[in-house]
Order: sequence, then structure tokens, then C-alpha cells
Amino acid sequence: MNDPGVTPATPPKFDDAPGVIGIAPGELPPLPDSILTEPESGRHDPRIWFRDPSLPFELEIGCGKGTFILEESRARPDANFLGIEWEHEYYSYSADRLRRVSAPNARMLRADATEFLRWRCPSAIVRVIHLYFSDPWPKSRHHKNRVVQDRFLADAWRVLLPGGELRIVTDHSEYWAWMEERFARWTAPERAPEIPVLIPTPAFERMAYQKTTAAGEGELVGTNFERKYRREGRPFHSCVLRKPG
Ligand SMILES: C[S@@+](CC[C@H](N)C(=O)[O-])C[C@H]1O[C@@H](n2cnc3c(N)ncnc32)[C@H](O)[C@@H]1O
Repeated sequence: MNDPGVTPATPPKFDDAPGVIGIAPGELPPLPDSILTEPESGRHDPRIWFRDPSLPFELEIGCGKGTFILEESRARPDANFLGIEWEHEYYSYSADRLRRVSAPNARMLRADATEFLRWRCPSAIVRVIHLYFSDPWPKSRHHKNRVVQDRFLADAWRVLLPGGELRIVTDHSEYWAWMEERFARWTAPERAPEIPVLIPTPAFERMAYQKTTAAGEGELVGTNFERKYRREGRPFHSCVLRKPG
């Protein structure tokens, strides 16, 4: 029975369907103390979160309102898609959209995607990492927050399957120049000091970006940011880094 003296808690704005669509940070086991000396001790295979864990596995970093993961997972039921979004509002908004269409092959994780790749994701399990319109963090003192860093490229290389791809599109010319500087090191035959010795060089092959299955007429990906910036007439930059197979 309701106690009339107690104000009921505000219902959540969106239903992120815990256990079905949304995976909250607390659902992962705590990182063990041994994590720094034994990085493998913190790994957790995300493929088990899907109805059919044997399907090829793709990740989207920074889903925003979830349009890409929603449309691409419906267009390609033969792959599993994990969307990683750290902002609670966008995480639950995207999960709520996926719940409404009962997507069996798409789930949302609320986490810092760079941390997830570094500490949690097992090696060589991901077919594609999608990174679209990643936050540019334009001020120099914030550049450390950009997703694309040498460390991120090392982690992406580790988690990708041989032949796996990192697909990137951005509108931001200055962030693109920053990415290009790093991509040049990671696609060069000679080893730059930033490339860990265990990674054979060239670490990636660079290829042209091909539009996604669910992209609409004249679109590359079909995310909310792409649609907004396209209306503004902004040019886009894109590429694919492929881990040699
Ligand atoms: C500019 S928005 C683009 C959203 C969407 N990809 C699109 O194109 O419409 C970038 C998104 O990435 C998320 N994000 C940025 N860094 C992240 C990180 N390290 N881990 C998870 N999400 C991140 C932000 O919260 C934001 O929702």
C-alpha cells in the first residue's frame, strides 16, 4: 500500500531495460587488484550479452541518440552490435529506442569506451569499431579527452580480429588533422616510437570509407550529427583502418 506521506520516486524518463538492452557499469565484475600487472585478469567477454553470441561482433563508440545502432542492427540481423555511451541521458535514450523495436542483436553499455577497450575487452573479438562524429574537444587543454589517441589505436588494434576495421567519420577539420597525424604513424611500414613492439608494422592498412548498410540516400552513416551537419553543408572526413588479416 502507498504511504500518502511519501512522495513517489520520479519514474525514469526512458526505459533502458536493464538486463535486456542496457548494461549498467555495476553489472561488470569489479576490476581485480592484479589489473596493472596482469591486464588479462580484468577481461569480460561482451559477446555473452547477446542472444546469439556466435554472431560477428561490432562496437559503436559514442552512440548519441542511437540512430546508427538502431538502423544498422535492424538492417544487419546477422551481426551483434554493442553501443557504448558514457552520458547517462544518451545511453538510456538509445537503449529505450532499441527496446521499442525489440532488437535482439543490439545492446547498450554505459561506460567510457576507451576504458572498456583498454581493461575489459578480450583480444581479437571485434569485427568493426564504429566511431562517428566523435567529440572534437577543440581546446588544447582538452585534447587529452579525444577518443583518438595512440593508446586508443593500440587498444583498437588488440581487440580487432585480423581483417577487422576501425571506421571513422568526422566533420571537424582540426580533429581530423590530429587523427591524420596518428593514422600516418599507425599505417607506416617503419615503427614509430608510439607503436608497441609487439604490434607488427604497418599496424593498419588505410582504406576508403564505404557507406554503411543503413545509411540513407547521400549519407555516409546516417547518425543524428551527420544529418544535422549535412543540412548545414559541412564537409566530412572519413577513413577505414584495417588490421591486416
Ligand atoms: C558528438 S556526439 C556524436 C553522437 C553520434 N555518434 C552521432 O554521430 O550522432 C559524441 C558522443 O560520444 C559520446 N562519447 C564521447 N566520448 C566517449 C567515450 N569515451 N565513451 C563513451 N561515449 C563517449 C558522447 O557522450 C556523445 O554522445
